[in-house]
Amino acid sequence: AETHYHEFIVQPKPVKRLCKVHNIITVNGKFPGPTLSVRNGDSLVIKVVNVARYNVSLHWHGIRQLRNPWADGPEFVTQCSIKPGGSYTYRFTIQDQEGTLWWHAHSRWLRATVYGALIIYPKLPSSYPFLMPKREASVLLGEWFDRDPISVLRQALFTGAAPNVSDAYTINGQPGDFYRCSGKETVRFAVDSGETILLRIINSALNQELFFSVANHQLTVVAVDASYTKPFTTNVIMIGPGQTTDVLLTANQQPAHYYMAATAYNTALNAAFDNTTTTAILEYKNCQQHQQQPPRPTMAQLPNFNDTPTATRFTSQLRSPNRVNVPTQIDNSLLFTVGLGLINCTNPNSPRCQGPNGTRFAASINNVSFVFPKSNSIMQAFYQGVPGVFTTDFPPVPPLQFDYTGNVSRGLWQPGRGTKGYRLKYGSNVQIVLQDTSIVTTEDHPMHLHGYHFYVVGSGFGNFNPATDPARFNLIDPPVRNTIGTPPGGWVAIRFVADNPGAWLMHCHIDSHLAWGLAMVFLVENGEGELQSVLPPPPDLPPC
Ligand code: C2O
Repeated sequence: AETHYHEFIVQPKPVKRLCKVHNIITVNGKFPGPTLSVRNGDSLVIKVVNVARYNVSLHWHGIRQLRNPWADGPEFVTQCSIKPGGSYTYRFTIQDQEGTLWWHAHSRWLRATVYGALIIYPKLPSSYPFLMPKREASVLLGEWFDRDPISVLRQALFTGAAPNVSDAYTINGQPGDFYRCSGKETVRFAVDSGETILLRIINSALNQELFFSVANHQLTVVAVDASYTKPFTTNVIMIGPGQTTDVLLTANQQPAHYYMAATAYNTALNAAFDNTTTTAILEYKNCQQHQQQPPRPTMAQLPNFNDTPTATRFTSQLRSPNRVNVPTQIDNSLLFTVGLGLINCTNPNSPRCQGPNGTRFAASINNVSFVFPKSNSIMQAFYQGVPGVFTTDFPPVPPLQFDYTGNVSRGLWQPGRGTKGYRLKYGSNVQIVLQDTSIVTTEDHPMHLHGYHFYVVGSGFGNFNPATDPARFNLIDPPVRNTIGTPPGGWVAIRFVADNPGAWLMHCHIDSHLAWGLAMVFLVENGEGELQSVLPPPPDLPPC
């Protein structure tokens, strides 16, 4: 195994998009940021030097960080932020993971521009379980904001103007042909006629689940979230923020140019959504020689922004390639409601209170709207026994149960705020049913669990029924993921073994929802409250 050393300088860089120059935050002046390529079993040593004006921390999304929460990255959860002028070195080893993951800033909305691919090849001499083509490419889907994303965050926090406030979707940082001043830089992927290419599709968008397809071409899905799937072919994929999907595409059409395109899947958008679409071009190399003018690309067909049946058809086809070891005896059976909420304001005229009837937007799990601590990280407080940073009274089931799909009265559910964790005994078998509440909007919430991956054993629409639904769970070959969408107006069930001690964040990967409090923390302990099997905190862990 190898050790890879990198220096990541977090720095501003002027970048022109949509006819305007913005000084964005980047790593090493690159947007998207540098790609990390490693093999399973390798170690990474990444020295992050912050020369920007903002506090920053970086997260290696999907890396399990076994007994090493100090390298996970979410600010105020496993570390305090790296201050301007400061640095911190993330050290971790890839343990039994291969495929496509990614890294991103985990501090306020910096991840709008601070992200990159993290590619894990199998240990030599083994190889991927599919025929690995000679050619591969990362396809990072993103969102571009014509303003500083931190001011967008402030606006969204207070006004709820979150869905579709970005000004473009992007592929590898470029909006593509359908946006102003963008055509020249449209990303191109060249292929030889007849060859197969592996596309590593990553949804790094801040707030948007996306549909993705390539004109006239079938996509064969082989992995999601760095876990293999039974291969299946599809015309369109749905991918939530945080998720990755690896597909094989064979260039078996007329030699020509074809658009690959992505647009929103978001049932909270209204009918006025303009179907804004990002594109890149799949170019057959042998067609360029014959023609003076580059051929006009064929447009890809994309579903409507509210096409839940297509999204569901896609996700319900995902299976692990073989039988997997799903826990069957459940020690912790949790029901988590996820959704938005409205908090009554004492002063409805305050600028924070621009929700309906002078309320303030919030989001919660089991009616608790998560508040990040300020004075310490949860992991440090947990490890060192520092009181007053968090409480452990996160409720395992909602404090009030009702018909989540009915016409829920807005007065019924007003989240309380808190920094609450839930204790899981190390080694215990956990099941979580995530239930969308449909309060304020009915919307798919892509839920990400740090430090783990999990089996997605079932999902459905309406209210989860504990008497009948578990009988239909897939305990044979469910897909393994680190981020899973809670279907709009529905539920999804996941299972995992709590085999990684530490403090691990679970949250909606739509950043506006995270900022509104759609998060909680698991506190996984080894034995009687000690955490001695966790690696000691590194000496350069940033002070709070
Ligand atoms: Cu990809 Cu907590 O994030």
